Amino acid sequence: MLKQFFIKNGHIVDPSQGINSTGEIFIENGKIKSVKVSKSQSVKDSDTKKVIDAEGLYVFPGFVDMHTHLREPGFQHKETIRTGTLAAIKGGFTSVCPMPNTNPVNDNEAVTEFILRKNYSEGSCYIFPIGAVTKGQRGEELAEMWMMKKAGCVAFSDDGMPVMNSLIMRRALGYSKIFDVPIISHCEDINLSDKGVMNEGKLSTLLGLKGVPCASEDIMVARDIMLSELTGGRLHIAHVSTKGSVRLIRDAKERGIRVTAETCPHYFSITEAAVKDYNTNAKVNPPLRRDEDIEAIKEALKDGTIDVIATDHAPHHTDEKMLEFDRAPSGISGLETALGLSLRLVEEGILTIEGLIGKISLNPSKILGLEKGTLKAGADADITIVDMKKEHKVEAERFESMGKNTPFEGWVLKGRTVMTICKGNIFEIS
Ligand code: DOR
Repeated sequence: MLKQFFIKNGHIVDPSQGINSTGEIFIENGKIKSVKVSKSQSVKDSDTKKVIDAEGLYVFPGFVDMHTHLREPGFQHKETIRTGTLAAIKGGFTSVCPMPNTNPVNDNEAVTEFILRKNYSEGSCYIFPIGAVTKGQRGEELAEMWMMKKAGCVAFSDDGMPVMNSLIMRRALGYSKIFDVPIISHCEDINLSDKGVMNEGKLSTLLGLKGVPCASEDIMVARDIMLSELTGGRLHIAHVSTKGSVRLIRDAKERGIRVTAETCPHYFSITEAAVKDYNTNAKVNPPLRRDEDIEAIKEALKDGTIDVIATDHAPHHTDEKMLEFDRAPSGISGLETALGLSLRLVEEGILTIEGLIGKISLNPSKILGLEKGTLKAGADADITIVDMKKEHKVEAERFESMGKNTPFEGWVLKGRTVMTICKGNIFEIS
């Protein structure tokens, strides 16, 4: 670890302090010691301390992904904590929150401790685990949420396996309220989805694939908002994909209900058309939707209805994705394309750069109660340096992630992480 160093000449954007200008950051012992935006106080080149010259680059608080699948324990053929956190670093993420659908499920403190220990020895970034809401994610009996919270879990979710029983969901929201952590809901009425594999509509009919109607998501968003209202528990809606969800969340926020929401880059970048050649790399749950959903999601990102951009990084083995569309697992490997895809929103004028950094760093930290997403003095030196002009072609074979499953193969994205600073290490990204 470098004990002391400066980052100078970079354009610093830190919504937590309202900073959007050129300046310098002084780092000491892995912590931010000071941030100066006035050029007059600039460090001299002759200074003996190491200087990272960020001329022409943007300097952001490290990104925080509140929805990641790291697959360990149990599915190390898809991803490990080592490879998943390296993928995070490459994408500019300094903290990730792994979902509990591992094997065994992270539904007790022993698994939580295993994940944290493993990350301590093998991980490159910080991990804040998300524990299961119910034992084995079976939706029948609440897991030991308090014990998991004490062990380090920052939220609870049965992601991938919606909690279908409303009484259990009511209890989860009521119980988690006591220790003020959010319940992250994968909103899907499993019965209505009825093993569908893509968005329901004309295209699913043409392709002969079973569809999932938007109502499958919307119904559960509505239910969970009602249960949040009933219990006063904090609800966070995962991976919003429909305009119906947007409408319900907007209305709930207006009524003062304690709900927050996230979407993922694939839900504002591509439609169901991406699966038309039976491309299993575009198979994801919830499924890719229609243009009108993309428009609604963009509007929701703009007006604050959607607080967070999360990756839902869901790596799968290439052999699994090579199965027939019906049988291939759902998921997109997202950590290494999230920034480039999200910066398109800035280019389109949907978000300002501060707005984007808020959604990818500060807001998830606030929702989860993490001391992250800021460059304030005293904070961990989690810093992402980005070349906003650098174009790069998405080539899954070059991902750090073991999951090569991306529907964005061959896309040329503008804006790339060139350096990530985390846990006292400086990662230069080529
Ligand atoms: O597409 C998805 N993949 N959606 C989920 O909810 C789970 C995830 C996974 O674990 O692969």
